Amino acid sequence: MLSKSIQEALNKQVAMEAESSQAYLAMASWAEIQPGLDGVTEFFYQQANEERVHMLKLIRYINERGGFGVVPALEQPIITYQSLKRVFEEFLKHELAVSDSINELVGMALEEKDFATHNFLQWYVSEQIEEERLARTLNDKLELVGDDKSGIYLFDRDIMLFRPKQ
Ligand code: FEO
Repeated sequence: MLSKSIQEALNKQVAMEAESSQAYLAMASWAEIQPGLDGVTEFFYQQANEERVHMLKLIRYINERGGFGVVPALEQPIITYQSLKRVFEEFLKHELAVSDSINELVGMALEEKDFATHNFLQWYVSEQIEEERLARTLNDKLELVGDDKSGIYLFDRDIMLFRPKQ
């Protein structure tokens, strides 16, 4: 059985994953109406789906442990961007915030000696290492490319190669 505090913290994480999914969906939709960003579009549609899976896993875990997984209300995410660079900066910022939140949760689970939740969260810890690495790599590549159009073309063409294999 989950403690009230762990349950609340897990539900906060549910909301954070839902917000991530919405934010990435908005990035996908923005990219889709820009000329030539097919790769980036696909990348963020997939990323949005993944975050939804992260949310579902949490809801099901909370319910499985005798709690109640709460579907959160969501604010509208950023829907337009000044540049591709801004999109990926936001992506990294988001993932860093998620990592912090997961780390907090892991600490809390240990403190409360909730080893089942601690064990459950390890999947998220590994996932965040991957997501952060991916976000940093893509930001580094864009930094190299700058405003060079052929560089952006290659970035968009190859972006899916950087995603970890599922
Ligand atoms: Fe589920 Fe990328 O945080």
